[in-house]
Parts: sequence; C-alpha cells; structure tokens
Amino acid sequence: MIGAESPTEEGETIAISRLFASLALLSAWVNLQFAVKIEPISEITVYMSIKQLLNQRIATAMQQAGVPSPCSPMLALSGKPQFGDYQANGAMAAAKQMKTNPRELAQKILDHLDLDGIASKLEIAGPGFINITLDNAFLAQQLTYSDEVACEQPQTVVIDYSSPNLAKEMHVGHLRSTIIGDCLARVLEYQGHQVIRQNHMGDWGTQFGMLIAELELHLGEGEQADLALNDLEQFYQQSKKHFDADAEFADKARAYVVKLQSGDAHCRALWQQFIDVSVAHNIEIYKQLNVGLLQEHIAAESSYNDDLQNVIDSLTEQGLAVESDGAKVVFLEELADKNGEPSPMIVQKSGGGFLYATSDLACLRHRVNTLQADRILYFIDARQSLHMKQVFITGRKANFAPPEVSLEHHAFGTMMGPDGKPFKTRAGGTVKLADLLVEAVERAEKLVKEKNPDLQGKDIADISRKVGIGAIKYADLSKTRTNDYIFDWDAMLSFEGNTAPYLQYAYTRIRSIFRKANIQAEGFSAPIIVQQPQEKTLAFKLLQFDEVLNQVAADCYPHSLCTYLYELASAFMSFYEQCPVLKDGVDTDTQHSRLMLCALSANRLAQGLDLLGIEVMEQM
Ligand code: ARG
Repeated sequence: MIGAESPTEEGETIAISRLFASLALLSAWVNLQFAVKIEPISEITVYMSIKQLLNQRIATAMQQAGVPSPCSPMLALSGKPQFGDYQANGAMAAAKQMKTNPRELAQKILDHLDLDGIASKLEIAGPGFINITLDNAFLAQQLTYSDEVACEQPQTVVIDYSSPNLAKEMHVGHLRSTIIGDCLARVLEYQGHQVIRQNHMGDWGTQFGMLIAELELHLGEGEQADLALNDLEQFYQQSKKHFDADAEFADKARAYVVKLQSGDAHCRALWQQFIDVSVAHNIEIYKQLNVGLLQEHIAAESSYNDDLQNVIDSLTEQGLAVESDGAKVVFLEELADKNGEPSPMIVQKSGGGFLYATSDLACLRHRVNTLQADRILYFIDARQSLHMKQVFITGRKANFAPPEVSLEHHAFGTMMGPDGKPFKTRAGGTVKLADLLVEAVERAEKLVKEKNPDLQGKDIADISRKVGIGAIKYADLSKTRTNDYIFDWDAMLSFEGNTAPYLQYAYTRIRSIFRKANIQAEGFSAPIIVQQPQEKTLAFKLLQFDEVLNQVAADCYPHSLCTYLYELASAFMSFYEQCPVLKDGVDTDTQHSRLMLCALSANRLAQGLDLLGIEVMEQM
C-alpha cells in the first residue's frame, strides 16, 4: 500500500530463521497472525503480530538463559506508559521454578534478547518485570504491512447461531445469538477460515401439530396462508386457545404431529406453508439487522429426521442408551449431582417420539462427518448449558465427534429491561424483534435530524437505519458476553462514550478531513513518520488489530473488539487534537504522514465495525 518512498525494503524484513530450531515453535507460529513480515527458512512469507514476534524472541532468550521449557514469556500490554508498551513477566515464574533470583534471571534473559530495530528501550523493573518500549521507526514500518491478512492453517468452522423456533415470531431473546454468532462468523472468515453458518431452526416440535390444524381451519374458510399467518404471534395464541378449549381440535392436533413426523403428504404440505411464511419473516429480520444469514444456511431440526433412528440404534448398540420406564435414556456419570445420581438425557420417549437432544446428536454427527468441521461453535443462551454438556459428552462417548474436533458452547446472559428484569413490553408480553428494530431506527432518525438539520430525505433514512441498528448491535456486543445487561436506549444512542454512534461519527470526521483536503482517501499512500507521543499511541493501537482478532477468534468474546475500536477512536481524537494535519505551517512530509495515519484509522474503524456487522457512512 505504501509507494516508492516507503522506508520498507525487502532487506529490512526481519529474518528470524534462527527461531525455527524446533518444530513445536514452528507449528505454534504458523497458527498466529500477521503484522510482522518475516522471512523463514522456507520461501513462504508470513505475517505475524508484534506480540507474537516478541513472544518468540523472548522465549528464545529464555531458553538461551537456561530456563527449562516450556517457559512462557507471559507477555502483556503494559498498563501504564512508564512501563513501556509491553511487559514480560515470565522471569518471575521461571526463577521460582529454578530457585534463583528473579531480577538476575531477568538480566540474563535481557543479555540474550535481540530486539534490535524493534525496541528502543528494554529495562528491568520491580522484582523482575521486563519492560519493552517499541521503536517509533519500527512501528511506522509495520504499519505498511498491516493490511495484509493470511491464514496459514485455515480451519473449517461450523457456527450454529440465531436458530429461532419457527412456531412464533422472532423476539428480543433471539437477538444475542444472532448478532454475536454473526460477528464470530465475520471475524473467522476475515482471518481466512472456512466458515459454515448453520441456522438450526426449530421447526419440528409438538406445537406444529396444533399450528397446522389451525392453519387447516383458516384455509378451509378460503383464507390465504400468508394472510392467515400475517401475525405469527397472534396465530399461535389463537391456536393455543383452540387447543385448550376444544377437545376435538386438541385430538386432531396430536394426531397431526404423528402424521407429520411419519411423512403424511397433507400434513407435510400444511406444515411447509407455515414454515415458508415463518422463514421469510426471519430472513427479513436478518436483512434489517445486516446479519449474513440466508436461506442456504438453514439446517433446521427437521433436516435430521431421517437419521434419528440411526442415532438411537448406535447409542443402544454401544450400550450408551438404555431402557428406562419405556423411554431410551443416556445416563451420564460425568454430570452426576451431589448425591452421585447420573444426569439423564432422554433420547426417545416411551411413545417412540424423538427429542431436541436426539436431533442435536444427529446434527453433531452431520457437522463432523459431512461438513468436516474442525471446530463447532454454538451460540446459545446460558440456560441450555446442561443440554449442551449432555450432547457434547454423549457425542464424544459415542464417537460422533472425535477428540480433535473442538466442541464449544459459547453461552450468553439475558437482555434486561430498565427494571432489571428480562426485557418485556409494558403489558408484560414478549417484545417482537421486528418492533424493536423499527423503534431503533425511529429514535435514531430523531437524533440524526437534530444533529444535522441539513440532511436530505434519502440520506436521513439511510443514516438513521445504520445508526439505529448499529446502536442496538454495538450495545450488546460491547458487553461481556456471559453477563446479563440492561437495555438502555439513551445510552446506546449517545454520541459520546463506547457506542456505535460515537465510532460512526469518528469515522465520518476522518473522512471529512480528506474531503476538506480534496484528497482521495482510497489508495492514498505516503511514508509514515512517528514523532509525537499521540502519533506513537495511534500507530501502536492500529497495529494491535490482529492481536485483538486472534483473541476474539479464540475466546469468542466480541467485546474485546469493541473496546479496541473505542480505544482506537479515542487515540485518533487525541492525535487529531494535538497533531495538526491541514493547518498552515505543517511541512509536506509530516502532513502526508498524518494523512496516512488518518486513512489507516478510518480503514480500521470501518473494518472493525464491519466485523461487528455495523455499517459506516460518509456523514451524519
Ligand atoms: N431453537 C433453539 C431455541 O430456540 C435453539 C437451537 C440452538 N442450536 C442447537 N443446535 N441446539 O431454543
């Protein structure tokens, strides 16, 4: 991306071939990311983050200083500027193990540590911390690589997310799985993994007997299916009322479940009409939410129907499922309660019917064998933790999922109303997701009009949608996934603080610098000179992007990406206050370097927001 004046020449790339003494290091290395350009023994050129590079250099120095392996440098970002940029704390633990003085060991490690051209200052602090201050010229040079992404060991990652039940309309309870899962799909795809999105929609429970019996009534009266199903919520309530009040209807509903599951054509046709309407509704919500789930990602519960008996047979043959009161049950000692009673998971009811657990086991097998997953991520409410544990343990024992396939349930907390109780309408009903999104855009429109009265109709609609939807998503994604959080319109729509509007606004500000300068930001290229402390802070932040993505990809907590973007925007704002760009008297090299920092900041913000599924705009 940098032109001919670039300080970066082939010869200046860092040769680290001597690091590849052991294969173990090599395989750890290929797994990681990519800001530092490196020329290993082989011909391939790979990029790694600064953190990864430091980790390797320090690990080598530790080995040379006689620390027995495995030894961890225990590298972390420094909490305070006076402690440098990174801090390696590994000397203390190693000294304890070696029964030697930690400061002396830290000194020995420093004697072997080669960070020429990378660090401008190395020092030992306190009981044996090694503080590392990065070199400004090194940071400037690294920024020229930072747009190159490659993944040396791409995995096939199946992501199960959103997965609503189709009997009713999507409600606020479906928001978290939908947007957190989508963020992980985007991040892993960006890193070069093969992501397979799987929307495990619930289309196969006993409720469907009741729903198709109700639909049959409506159609019998000459009503069109999509009209009858215009409001799924209401339709569900209506059929439930029928079911409770009318014994004949209830009998029919029960008979229809059995007929449906055994493939009866009439019931199947009714069911299909219902499903089509419900799915169309969900796809509309995904579009509104800027979530990448399409028709082709649906692998609903019913799609495993033909394999359920096979699952039972396999579990029975392996002695895992046993008869209990006429039902088939897997008893799991691994999840025994405090009295030592094993945890039961019913896989077939006494009448022969299959359950949620049965389809999840068939589904697991499908993901391993047919989709060839290396890693399977489930984004499901914390209340299903026991279910997921049962499925995973049984899946392992039955060898549906071999040990090398990673099975991960990434649970999340509940979205609460202002009263601290699960989010409800004033009347106490569930809030439809569609209604929530409409309200978000309406509220955003009011704000946008207030902030910028010059905006025109089409722009207002577009900006309001991006701001409103972005605000809802960001408010959720920026909270620690596993916690409950309180839904607060005013906080999420604020233009100050850690919010989507703040980040979107920061982006528009940078873009306006280029408009003012009459320079095309895309393709703008100039050598970077890092001089002022604010320039250094910004450059260093820009270079942490890959590190943060590695973190998100590994632990599936999107809030670290949000925190990063907020810090990046704040670093940009301080830079822009302290380091004039377009003012008179700024020499051309400095001006171009600063414009380059502006362009990189805008790109990172847009890129980062895109990975959260949030859109940016040129003005707001
Ligand atoms: N449909 C389920 C529900 O709404 C969630 C399904 C999650 N995925 C899975 N493989 N169990 O509770």
